[in-house]
Amino acid sequence: MKKYAALVLMIVSLLFIQARFFHSPPVDKVTLGKLLFFDTILSRDRTISCASCHKPEFAFADSVAFSAGVGGKPGVRNSPTAMNVSGSRRPFFWDGRAGSLEEQALRPIEDATEMDLSVEIAVKRLREDKTYRDHFMAVFNREPDAASLAEVISAFERSLETSESPFDDWKFSEREDAVSEPAKRGFELFSGKARCSQCHFGSDFSTHTFRNIGLFDGKKLNDSGRFVVTRDATDIGRFKTPTLRNVAITAPYMHNGMLKTLEEVITFYDDPAKIVPGSINRDSLLLKPLGLTAAEKSDLREFLLTLTDKRFKKE
Ligand code: HEC
Ligand code: HEC
Repeated sequence: MKKYAALVLMIVSLLFIQARFFHSPPVDKVTLGKLLFFDTILSRDRTISCASCHKPEFAFADSVAFSAGVGGKPGVRNSPTAMNVSGSRRPFFWDGRAGSLEEQALRPIEDATEMDLSVEIAVKRLREDKTYRDHFMAVFNREPDAASLAEVISAFERSLETSESPFDDWKFSEREDAVSEPAKRGFELFSGKARCSQCHFGSDFSTHTFRNIGLFDGKKLNDSGRFVVTRDATDIGRFKTPTLRNVAITAPYMHNGMLKTLEEVITFYDDPAKIVPGSINRDSLLLKPLGLTAAEKSDLREFLLTLTDKRFKKE
């Protein structure tokens, strides 16, 4: 009798161990959102994922001016970093056409130049996929739908915050040796003579306001930005001020990716009219040349390099 009891106990514990180790571990919203972010299931021909354009190694931005979507079709604006987007209600996209992260999350799926798939079909695919169906049932206690899809993608995006850069070590942990002397001088310039902080301010180095830095001339440069959304003439050529966190690795720069390096960006700001003559509606902060010396330009660049999170540091 005892022998049988021992055998039964062994079988029961084996079943228990099997259940623990061979069934998928419980998922949460962030891990489910991460799975989807890297999965091509959300694009029409199953070739493109969010990560095709928001690449982890470039701080979830892309390294080309215009990323290719489904069918190799290039978009019309530069893919910005999808990191540091956690602020609760603030505008998304270069023109601010989405008012919250949840509102933003489903747009790339439907965008014809990105994933080109209706949300309805995306949801249907997830319902027909046993793994995703089980995951959504486990997290939401219901089948996948548009709302839960938006919720898990935004949950993953909210998890992509960076606050461990040399700059943070210097400013917030008061480690004087965390950044170089030129970088410290660069920060002085950023906040003073170069006037950058008037628009790039706060923990993400962005006021999230729409400004026109002089990249609209109505001819070759004809993306009118915020105006597309508001139809207010004062918004012509205005774009959302982007975060500068990780900016060293998110080249090329600006809504149209026209500036290839940080040197080019700084040269532009030094005298915008020289790079884009005849721009329309340029911000009053940028009407007069800054008159930066070569040494000052280099210091400013050194400062911008300190905003790269340690996780992206090359070994
Ligand atoms: C084909 C390339 C491509 C794909 C695929 C793509 N994106 Fe984007 N993403 C862009 C471009 C380009 C923009 C800027 C568009 C604009 O502002 O008009 C953008 C903007 C964003 C923004 C706004 C950032 C900000 O600060 O305003 C977020 C967040 C984002 N994408 C997340 C995603 C997610 C999540 C997915 C997958 C569901 C995705 N993207 C798929 C190219 C892409
Ligand atoms: C008047 C507000 C304003 C000022 C002043 C300003 N910026 Fe900007 N910055 C913006 C806006 C708006 C954009 C996006 C413009 C666009 O794409 O058309 C931008 C874009 C950038 C980008 C590109 C980021 C990316 O991901 O593409 C960098 C880098 C940058 N600014 C650095 C600076 C520096 C350095 C200074 C000071 C020399 C500065 N900015 C001064 C508003 C401003």
